[in-house]
Amino acid sequence: MSAAYLGIDIGTSACKALMMGPEGEVVDSETVAYRVHAPREGWSEQAPEDWISGAAAAVQALIARTGRQPRCIGLSGQMHGMTALDADHKVLRPAILWNDQRTEAECAEITDRAGGLDALLSLTGNRMLPGFTGGKILWMRRHEPDLFEKTRIILNPKDYLRFRLTGDYATEVSDASGTGLFDVVGRRWSADLLDRIGLDRALLPDCFESDVVSARVSSTGAVLFGLDPGIPVVGGGGDAVIQTLGAGVVGEGVLQTTIGTAGIAASALNRPIANPEGRLQVFCNVAPDLWHCMGVSLNAGDAFVWLRDLLSENGAALDFDHLTEAAEGAGIGASGLLFLPYLMGERCPWPDPAARGAFIGLRRHHGGAHMARAVLEGVVYALRDMAALMGQAGLARTRVIHASGGGASSALWNQMLADVFDAEVVTTASSAEGAAFGAAMLAAVGTGDWPELAEAVRVCRVEQRWRPDPARHEAYADLFELYQGLYPALRPVNDRLRDFSQRGFDA
Ligand code: XUL
Repeated sequence: MSAAYLGIDIGTSACKALMMGPEGEVVDSETVAYRVHAPREGWSEQAPEDWISGAAAAVQALIARTGRQPRCIGLSGQMHGMTALDADHKVLRPAILWNDQRTEAECAEITDRAGGLDALLSLTGNRMLPGFTGGKILWMRRHEPDLFEKTRIILNPKDYLRFRLTGDYATEVSDASGTGLFDVVGRRWSADLLDRIGLDRALLPDCFESDVVSARVSSTGAVLFGLDPGIPVVGGGGDAVIQTLGAGVVGEGVLQTTIGTAGIAASALNRPIANPEGRLQVFCNVAPDLWHCMGVSLNAGDAFVWLRDLLSENGAALDFDHLTEAAEGAGIGASGLLFLPYLMGERCPWPDPAARGAFIGLRRHHGGAHMARAVLEGVVYALRDMAALMGQAGLARTRVIHASGGGASSALWNQMLADVFDAEVVTTASSAEGAAFGAAMLAAVGTGDWPELAEAVRVCRVEQRWRPDPARHEAYADLFELYQGLYPALRPVNDRLRDFSQRGFDA
């Protein structure tokens, strides 16, 4: 039987396990959903045990159906999630997730202690954003000192899975970049920053390049996941980075967009670029000579889910396909309605946890279909806004976009991307598979079965194309200009609304 490679992705809404064959074909995949908890407004947490039971169920189902054991395993996961473990390897509190916004004060403290934003950028290449792991560690140190005292190791989600699979603590350069404590140019922990903020390096796992086999399935892991002991596990990657590989993007010149819970505009880089004011994320990529640049919006597919839930009646959820069809009928610009998607605050292009969403231009004749259209368009403008920032940072404008994530299965969203960006949008056979597919590919590279990462370009064959229409692009160009004015105009209002809601009149 030919070799198979297993990719496991600990997503935000579900865990996906995927078995890939030697030619990059998806043999089978399995997804198990779990929940996000929001104990307070702006907080976002998950039980790490849910990741493990989800991953175990997904892998076991896959092994049972395919009758195959993988030759190697690659891991991926939502980035920046803080999982704290004690000396007995027990999880101390729910993981604090990437879209949690509680650490504004700690991020400011880290920036201060680093010697200001420019000094921080020169140490790590990135601003300390509220979603990043670093601020959360300081938050725990300040607000939960007893738990912090007991903490022996801090892991990102996929590295906690690695621990449960192999018994080893390890991470790799792409996820480590997203802690905000990592020197992305030197590809190592920033000893200098750790020193300045008083964090012990021993709290963080050893860091490897992403394609290196850093551990093997242990006998305990084998029982839990239904795997053979001893199977090698490569580093893998943070989902937002490894899904560019999953979409066949391994060099400069192509933009990759993801519409999942978050929205991402990303490009691979042959060298690390400057990150003015830290408004972008510049991370290590999953090959030793590759970097990654991206903008991440906290509000993409999630904004559409929010609207669907809002419009659903009597507990019966509206169907996404019907809502998309209705949105299509509403026409470009939703009859003069714009949507600013910052429902969870925002990260890029405006790093502002207090940012708020808005419908602008509502009139009596607007209905659910217009609102749905405005939400879909707002998400695409948010991606365009981030790509504009990447252009300002010196990245050449790309004519081809590889669309991926759940949103890439929507023809309307893909056509909108093409029209708004004035670029050809393509999807590949693996577009909907995302990070788990990238992780499986990295497993094939890690064993040496694939000579190099560039093999991904060969196996990710283009399946569908959407070409831009000049007239529609012109109409969208006007609307995008208006969209770009919304955040600066609304910011003072939002700041006062935040103060108002903090005064405690909320029901
Ligand atoms: C990347 C990011 C998200 C999460 C969840 O910086 O915050 O993409 O990784 O998918």
